[in-house]
Amino acid sequence: MNSPHLLVSALTAMLSLRALASSLPLTPPMGWNSWNHFQVNITDAIVRAQAEAMVSSGMRDAGYVYINIDDGWQGSRAADGTIQPNERFPDMAALADFLHAKGLKLGLYSSPGTKTCAGYTGSFGHEEQDARTYAAWGVDYLKYDLCSYNDEVVNKLTTPAERLDAIREAYAKMHRALRQTGRPIFYSLCQYGLNYVWRWGASVGGNSWRTTGDIGDSYAAMAAIGFGQAGLSRYASPGHWNDPDMLEVGNGGMTAEEYRTHMSLWALLAAPLLAGNDLTKMNAETIALLTNREVIAIDQDPAGVQGDRFSAEGPYEIWVKPLADGSKAIGIFNRQDTWTRGEVIPVDLRPLGFPSGAHVRDVWKHTDLGRREIIEATVPPHGCVLLRVRA
Ligand code: GLA
Repeated sequence: MNSPHLLVSALTAMLSLRALASSLPLTPPMGWNSWNHFQVNITDAIVRAQAEAMVSSGMRDAGYVYINIDDGWQGSRAADGTIQPNERFPDMAALADFLHAKGLKLGLYSSPGTKTCAGYTGSFGHEEQDARTYAAWGVDYLKYDLCSYNDEVVNKLTTPAERLDAIREAYAKMHRALRQTGRPIFYSLCQYGLNYVWRWGASVGGNSWRTTGDIGDSYAAMAAIGFGQAGLSRYASPGHWNDPDMLEVGNGGMTAEEYRTHMSLWALLAAPLLAGNDLTKMNAETIALLTNREVIAIDQDPAGVQGDRFSAEGPYEIWVKPLADGSKAIGIFNRQDTWTRGEVIPVDLRPLGFPSGAHVRDVWKHTDLGRREIIEATVPPHGCVLLRVRA
């Protein structure tokens, strides 16, 4: 550095890079992802239709903005190595423009391996080039899925420490490449929660990291993942989220009661809310489940504290999430499989931080329940009651 002028411009450039990087949202990302409903059967037209539906259904105005194309968009590489979309996505930059004009954002998916999980082209050896291409297209979110990197690199190493280092370096490498573009791109790690990723996901640049294998559209699959998040809350903070996988709400495999449990758990977990259904075919019940503002406010609370299990007695669980205004979200769950009449679950608010009782609101029913010291919630099997409680 040989002149004060150069020093000033270098500092200005660094500060503006930091400003760009920090313009990523600090609350959990909300949007839609193609995988749960469409798998690889996606096209530019399908994605545009989802975006239109995200706006017309009111989802965008409720906070859902990312339109994330999962596996299946990639074609081959051009002679100079540039990744090209396949014939189903004729012009990715034009698609990004279309989304941006609606106030939405575009997400893409790749892998540190040569192949993605579905066998499409991965980023191995082309990380910087791919990051530059994504930035030039106007991409705002990248899901980076370990997949073939395991067989190609990780499993050839001998010790667990070497294998962990290789995985961490693969993620850090793409993070550096994304950062160098200067474009704020939300970075979503997907390696199925292996190697205690919640302990190091943020240190390799992750804004979120999958904590589990893939979700399925059944109560059993959803509940195993959702309730299995107990103990992970201390690893989340604003801009750095545990990701228990995308939503199945509206895909048809669960009852409305079970989908309400799904949304309630994900909100308590401060999880990314990425709808995984066909947004062009939603009934009123699905829209209501996805757009309940009071539930979304719990997920998106600015304190960014993940909730956690307070108690489990047999099939009855209580989960608590502290909120920025001093109130708490409390989820009361009945994990029983069989229908009786619904179980009365007593919840004493005093040991939950409300020694003289609290004002209680049912956020699904949008109803105030008055001041209470003890709540007796009637909760159906597989169901829940979600409350917002303030002193
Ligand atoms: C893995 C991921 C899924 C999805 C598929 C795509 O299974 O965990 O979320 O991205 O790959 O092939």
